[in-house]
Amino acid sequence: MTNEDLATLDGVGPAMTSKLRSAGLTTVEAIAVTPPREIAKKTGIGFNTVLNIVAAARKSACVDFITAEELWKKRQNMLKCSMGSKNLDELLGGGIETQAMTEFIGEYGVGKTQICLMLCVMAQLPLEKGGLNGNVVYIDTEGTFMPERIFEIANALGVDPHKTLENIFLARAYNSSHQCLLTDHLFKFCPENDIKLVIVDSMIGHFRGEYIGRENLSERQQTLNSQLHKLLRLTEAFNLPVIVTNQVLANPAQFFGDPNKPAGGHVMAHACTHRVYLRRGRKGTRLAKVIDSPYLPENSTRFKITEKGIEDVQE
Ligand SMILES: Nc1ncnc2c1ncn2[C@@H]1O[C@H](COP(=O)(O)OP(=O)(O)OP(=O)(O)O)[C@@H](O)[C@H]1O
Ligand SMILES: [Mg+2]
Repeated sequence: MTNEDLATLDGVGPAMTSKLRSAGLTTVEAIAVTPPREIAKKTGIGFNTVLNIVAAARKSACVDFITAEELWKKRQNMLKCSMGSKNLDELLGGGIETQAMTEFIGEYGVGKTQICLMLCVMAQLPLEKGGLNGNVVYIDTEGTFMPERIFEIANALGVDPHKTLENIFLARAYNSSHQCLLTDHLFKFCPENDIKLVIVDSMIGHFRGEYIGRENLSERQQTLNSQLHKLLRLTEAFNLPVIVTNQVLANPAQFFGDPNKPAGGHVMAHACTHRVYLRRGRKGTRLAKVIDSPYLPENSTRFKITEKGIEDVQE
């Protein structure tokens, strides 16, 4: 969608268009899926006017009732990005899906960031090579994004490492409110920069570090929830995948099985379309298991982290 499209909405003149644009609402889709209250707050446009604009946007973007057949067609536009491992791709039904949020969960050093870095390179490949043929946004909350590693992975794949690095847009989020600001900015940034993949590594680190104590838990969960829903809307508005990483919490009361559980509670569990739990396996390999997905079976597979990035384990 281009910026003229906003002006085609009933009741939206040049002044209104510019207010919407400077609030990051540059497309009809973005307006259609953003809560009116939020639009009013960001643009300073009166709430009733916003309701009319949103109604017009929803009509134009066809986000009222649609038939299941139309939904089926929309999902045919869904693309899948390879992770460089056939087994991992198969586990997720053919790769990382657009129009969905995929969460990688696991303890430190298990390979969450490595998968993200691999995807930064893979997403830039053409569709026929398993990529999404576009650029990448990486929101790094922990300062663990390593350009050297991108260089190494790109070289191994036989693509130009410098071009690959040029097409990754990095933002170092210094705290949770900065992270929220960056997420808001994505509705403007993604369409303007041909972004086909958004990564948030990690989604929850700052939230856990800043909202300490039981009395702050509900506020934390509310903010986290609103952030996750924005990211979900982004996946639909621009037909792209969002990848988030998440840590695990030790549950000392658990005597049997894995004593770890994903952080973020029900809010994380509900918002993420697919959840993949990573664990250390035999001989330095890693185990990936789908733990919660609306249509993928709860299978698991093994992969390994090598200098080339993510690879299958040869059995
Ligand atoms: N060049 C490489 N070759 C082989 N293995 C590597 C290479 N670089 C990193 N690794 C492996 O990746 C692991 C680190 O994984 P990663 O940084 O993705 O963990 P993480 O799950 O993101 O952890 P955290 O929760 O601390 O962020 C290292 O322990 C190492 O085993
Ligand atoms: Mg990491």
